Amino acid sequence: MTLTLARDRDVAIVTIDNPPVNAINGATRIRLIALAEELDADPAIKAIVLAGAGKLFVGGADISEFDRPVESPTLPEVIARIEAARKPWIAAIHGVAFGGGLEITLGCRFRLAAPGTRLGLPEVNLGIIPGAGGTQRLPRLTGIAVALPVVAEMKTLTADEALKLGLVDQLIEGDLVAGAIDFARSAIARPLPPLAIERPLADATPELWSEAAQRIGKAARGNAAPLRALDAMRHGAERGIVEGLKRERSLFLDLRGSPEAAALRYLFFAERGAARPAALKGVTPLPIRRVGVIGGGTMGVGIATALRDADLPVVLVERDAESVSRAEKALSGSFEAAQRRGKLSAEAAAARLAGVTFTTAYEALADCDLVIEAVFEDLAVKRAVFARLGAICRPDAILATNTSYLDPRRMTEGLPQPERVLGLHFFSPAQVMKLVEIIPTPATRPEVLAAAFALAQKLGKIPVQAGICDGFIGNRILRRYRGAAETLLRSGVAIEAIDAAMRNFGFAMGPFEVQDLSGLDISFLHREAARARGEDVPETPGDVLVRAGRKGQKTGGGWYDYQPGDRTPRVSPETARLLAPFVAEKRDMPATEIADHLLAAMADEGRAILDEGIAASASDIDLVEVHGYGFPRWRGGPMFLRGRKTV
Ligand code: 3HC
Ligand code: NAI
Repeated sequence: MTLTLARDRDVAIVTIDNPPVNAINGATRIRLIALAEELDADPAIKAIVLAGAGKLFVGGADISEFDRPVESPTLPEVIARIEAARKPWIAAIHGVAFGGGLEITLGCRFRLAAPGTRLGLPEVNLGIIPGAGGTQRLPRLTGIAVALPVVAEMKTLTADEALKLGLVDQLIEGDLVAGAIDFARSAIARPLPPLAIERPLADATPELWSEAAQRIGKAARGNAAPLRALDAMRHGAERGIVEGLKRERSLFLDLRGSPEAAALRYLFFAERGAARPAALKGVTPLPIRRVGVIGGGTMGVGIATALRDADLPVVLVERDAESVSRAEKALSGSFEAAQRRGKLSAEAAAARLAGVTFTTAYEALADCDLVIEAVFEDLAVKRAVFARLGAICRPDAILATNTSYLDPRRMTEGLPQPERVLGLHFFSPAQVMKLVEIIPTPATRPEVLAAAFALAQKLGKIPVQAGICDGFIGNRILRRYRGAAETLLRSGVAIEAIDAAMRNFGFAMGPFEVQDLSGLDISFLHREAARARGEDVPETPGDVLVRAGRKGQKTGGGWYDYQPGDRTPRVSPETARLLAPFVAEKRDMPATEIADHLLAAMADEGRAILDEGIAASASDIDLVEVHGYGFPRWRGGPMFLRGRKTV
């Protein structure tokens, strides 16, 4: 049952009931049309209230249908039928009205909302545009300037905003449906207001369109949808609603079948699946109310910021007074920056900082439910830290490492209760980057693992479980990617051509530019450590550069040269000279071939990671790449592309 009908004397109540988000699917559409006919023909009924069952009104059209051909009746047909009804339809909205859910309300005569409701058209996040009139009816209710960011930039409106804009006619406190029935009775006693499609649209200036196009185009990178949404809106504004609706539908259908939309749908479901691994179903996570962070460097400060953003009290331990004050300065700087960007009020920034205890005393961790170490990437240092934690922390406290590469088992050997140990690998900057790799050891208790997933959710992160290997999922693929880039370089392809090809593919930066930004010395030291252990690690071009003092932007040069105070990479004659013994005669390679080569290397490593059981699914690997390594979202990920045989 996706739709129910009830009657309250002269008012019919149609309730969309399709848990978990009342997505509108084919069955709902058929039934809505049938009900519109039936209720029009019923002389006892004077008005219809349209509501959603459960926690929200409607989350949108059913995305899982988008891999199949469009089936009639379509949502635009349903909305047109509601609009043509002889009796007023009144949308009673609570929780969320997104996408097709909002569009259906725009075909109703009135919209009523419960306080706290959010309204939006997030279709562009799925690589499509609103396809059931959203780009046309919304601006006719709110004006173009307000509708633009909703239609093309994923802005959501609160019920209060919607009320002020006239998008919502009234807020209903208390019982929404009862309030809507009362509203219906008083509404039918008065002349009805015009429908959204009947309303005029004030002209927008050419500047408004061109400014919007520039801003939206820049932010969209490779995703075609936001500019198409703008196109549909402009078309309707300039040529009228009939033409506008036609244009919108045709752009929607084109995008619906595009590889970008398929990639974005795939990620939408993968993101939701990753947060709830089947193996943890029914497992109660250990509670996390207070968190310790050890090390207040780049990662410690970022992790503490993320924890405070989620309102968790933090104890941050550093090794000496000087490091404590450096960490305190960095953390307050991080909140001040958020304040400057208008994301935090002065009071909120002060409260976030006040929620952190800075100390050199490990004893302050005694009452923490979770401690995350983010000290130097050095096994001996980490072992010493865990030995102290073993002595100080409660036996049920979860002990986590933020290591990039090391085996959590080795740093916790001999620790009592090894079942509370796991890796929690955040990415830099930790308060921004969405990914957290969760790395259980074979001894980790399910309740501990579940607590890590629950924490990720609380922090608004995407958790991906990874098995133990050098670099886990992400850094292992990164190494392979960089190795493949260096292979091309050795074969004579120019550094700048490789970077340009990957930018062209959709990355914000190419592999060499990224290394210059983050520093070539990190992976150099990692290789040197392996060499010191007696492993056979051949000399790489990166090693040659680091040995020559070229560690990246911070030393004024790495793969490229940099002028002081300028991050623009410039082709470096010095690098060319240093690498000459490694590099074959210069050769050109088309950008797509370069990208294919590097993507194939990533996908191959991903395949090996899957075969070894380090990742549970191909989509987990893609989530790591998209949320931790800047892989363009609208491309889906290396495994998705490989599945489509485009690499
Ligand atoms: N279609 C199908 N399934 C959907 C869905 C949709 N539109 N929206 C959510 N779901 C599913 C999720 O996959 C998840 O499934 P699972 O339990 O099997 O993993 C389940 O519903 C719950 O989703 P969330 O975990 O995201 O639930 P929340 O309560 O956190 O959030 C929400 C609810 C705000 C509605 C959020 O799910 C959301 O933002 N959904 C997508 C909204 C959207 O993009 N709508 C536009 C759809 S396209 C459209 O309408 C086209 C039209 O213009 C023609
Ligand atoms: P960092 O060098 O910036 O910070 C390390 C901090 O730990 C320093 O402030 C140091 O004073 C402190 N410290 C060292 N020994 C300590 C001890 N015994 N007790 C308390 N504090 C101590 O290093 P960064 O970059 O923050 O890295 C930390 C960890 O996170 C490493 O394991 C690293 O591999 C990992 N990591 C780093 C990422 C990055 O991009 N920098 C990304 C993901 C993980």
